[in-house]
Amino acid sequence: MAESLQTGAATLEEMRKEALHAGGAERIEKQHAKGKLTARERLDLFLDNGSFTELDMFVRHRLHDFGMQDNRPYGDGVVTGYGTVDGRKVFVFAHDFTVFGGSLSETFSKKICKVMDMAMKVGAPIIGFNDSGGARIQEGVVSLGGYADIFLRNTLASGVVPQISLVLGPCAGGAVYSPAITDFVIMVKNISHMFVTGPGVVKTVTHEDVSFEELGGANTHATKSGVAHFAAEDEVTAIKQARQLLSYLPSNNLESPPVVTSDDPPDRELPDLDSLVPDNPNKAYDMRHVIHAITDHGVFEEIHADFARNIVVGLARMGGKSVGIIGNQPAHLAGALDIDASIKGARFVRFCDAFNIPLITLVDVPGFLPGTDQEWGGIIRHGAKLLYAYCEATVPKITVIIRKAYGGAYDVMSSKHIRSDINLAWPNAEIAVMGSKGAVEILWKRDIADAQDPEALTERLSEEYRQKFANPYVAAEHGFIDDIIAPRHTRSRLIDALEMLTNKVDSNPAKKHGNIPL
Ligand code: HXC
Repeated sequence: MAESLQTGAATLEEMRKEALHAGGAERIEKQHAKGKLTARERLDLFLDNGSFTELDMFVRHRLHDFGMQDNRPYGDGVVTGYGTVDGRKVFVFAHDFTVFGGSLSETFSKKICKVMDMAMKVGAPIIGFNDSGGARIQEGVVSLGGYADIFLRNTLASGVVPQISLVLGPCAGGAVYSPAITDFVIMVKNISHMFVTGPGVVKTVTHEDVSFEELGGANTHATKSGVAHFAAEDEVTAIKQARQLLSYLPSNNLESPPVVTSDDPPDRELPDLDSLVPDNPNKAYDMRHVIHAITDHGVFEEIHADFARNIVVGLARMGGKSVGIIGNQPAHLAGALDIDASIKGARFVRFCDAFNIPLITLVDVPGFLPGTDQEWGGIIRHGAKLLYAYCEATVPKITVIIRKAYGGAYDVMSSKHIRSDINLAWPNAEIAVMGSKGAVEILWKRDIADAQDPEALTERLSEEYRQKFANPYVAAEHGFIDDIIAPRHTRSRLIDALEMLTNKVDSNPAKKHGNIPL
């Protein structure tokens, strides 16, 4: 009988029991004492109740030296399988830190590869819960090979099924590159650490004293490096975040994102927006006010909220449909595009395009950020990423110029010229080669120098320039702007455009792949 199948003296039931507590009570207690959940507790929280089917519970490592031959726990340090989130199929793997510190062996990586391969075949998202001491030292190069097997699958799955990484403990050395390839990285403050080399090596090589948290904690990666898209306060919040993200996404690149029934009227007027933008073009406002006003029930899932704050990106629903929103943020660096903002925006645009999520672009951009830091850091190369991403995107693209759209940044921010479908502008939009002051100082440099009252002349010429160029009417005359709309009608016009574009089909020339300026 199946229930009495033997391995040594153990019955199947006893084996299962053993596998469920492979690391032992003491190590589970240690895990809890660090404020961390176990692999199985994480999966319980993440998946719909009772939906988890575990695979490879009885896999064990095959090492026969270093004393490992007498220490072969079931599962080998990773829990893998599939289940559902809000009723939709997902594949999961969760490192079990209580078994060899969640370190990666040959069999461990084979378990992960198996669920990744299945996820690709059936077209379902892959969610990884990372908490590991890295390559299992006793396994040597076999373990390194195991990592590479996973990196390859992360890359092949990219743009085919959504991949989300929760980093819920240590993640060091080359191991960081699996989460780095996935679409979203979620970390937990004071618990997660990601770095290529730890504080000890840093001290030896560069003589810098830096703590784990400062070097590779959630805050660092969510604000400075941009490696993490979210820095959660605790694991429960991080896990909720992952479920929330999935709710906006299709299961794979051949499906459309889920549509929900929305009771927020699509034609809801937004009178507050009529007076949102200050009369003074140099005064800031928060673009998130516009975003919260236009989305269903004001809900906006901001991504990378604390990194490159001069651009805002995130997911929302409009008329029940998932949209990706990108907005320049005048409240930070006047909304100018710099290196980090370009990279952040480009990656988000490409994510949405890969998974059939329409793009809404809200423009208020004075141009690219000037300075040697930016030029020497490669703003040309990085700014080109955002331009490239918008150019190649074939999903529905809808743009609203809220205020400024100056210079090259006008072209970049989903202009008509790079295949945007519907381009709207608010009445006070300023579309020009540059701001009035800069233009006047170039065009009438000598007149201003010779003037009795240079300031008054500059002011008069600036006003003339603004009247002539800094408005949306010239662009509208050329058809570069499809319509000039009252701010209060922004939501209804966007939803109308989304509806019109529902069956949009567009494509790029056949090629192996493009050569985005990396
Ligand atoms: C084998 C490991 C291990 C590893 C931890 N353990 N890391 N076993 N290989 N890489 C074991 C420990 O022996 C211990 O076993 C248990 O896991 C828990 O570890 P502790 O040290 O007690 O836990 P803690 O104090 O929380 O420290 C966690 C840690 C530390 C910071 C992760 O264990 C550590 O520094 N480990 C080594 C990390 C490392 O250098 N890994 C290689 C990185 S290079 P017992 O039996 O006592 O419970 C790499 C290359 C990847 O990963 C390349 C990919 C291309």
